[in-house]
Amino acid sequence: MKNIVIFASGSGSNAENIGEYFKDSNSVKITAVFTNNANAGVIKKMKRFGIPCVVFTKDDIISKEYFLIKLYQYRPDLIVLAGFLWLIPNYLVNAYPNKIINIHPALLPKFGGKGMYGMHVHEAVKAANETETGITIHYVNSKFDDGKIIFRANTPLTENDTPLTIAQKIHALEMENFPVEIDKILN
Ligand code: GAR
Repeated sequence: MKNIVIFASGSGSNAENIGEYFKDSNSVKITAVFTNNANAGVIKKMKRFGIPCVVFTKDDIISKEYFLIKLYQYRPDLIVLAGFLWLIPNYLVNAYPNKIINIHPALLPKFGGKGMYGMHVHEAVKAANETETGITIHYVNSKFDDGKIIFRANTPLTENDTPLTIAQKIHALEMENFPVEIDKILN
């Protein structure tokens, strides 16, 4: 059995989709969802899978010993950032080498970095008149959106696309690809 711990800050549609994909798996188990936001939609979404949610603060995650012990209770083979908005501290990257992955809603290295999340990304893509966008799944290092790229998928854009329609196209790509790529990484 391989264990996944998901980190999420927001609505949790990716976490839910990953939960759905692996819910009957006998080789992969989501042992916990960690969130920095006590009001995050992800908490409610994960309830139906019976997956425990752990809410943590900035003080918790900067306390190396404390946080590593807390996380180790869930024995992660892979840590999946699914809309998680804080930087992963160095000690955590070093404790789980090549075992932390992130999904980014654009074609990295374009439109990445601090402040580039959610609609901010789609607005920047629109403002730059891009003819395509996409998703990037990558290993996490101690900089935002910077680690080795594992997978990308593209979608064409027209001048009629708006940040909202771009968001919808990205959402579709994420739903289709993220769980499948996680499965490949684990098996
Ligand atoms: C997703 O589109 C994910 O790619 C993005 O946040 C959204 C979370 O949605 N992540 C980033 O922008 C990270 N820089 P969700 O909470 O519904 O899964």
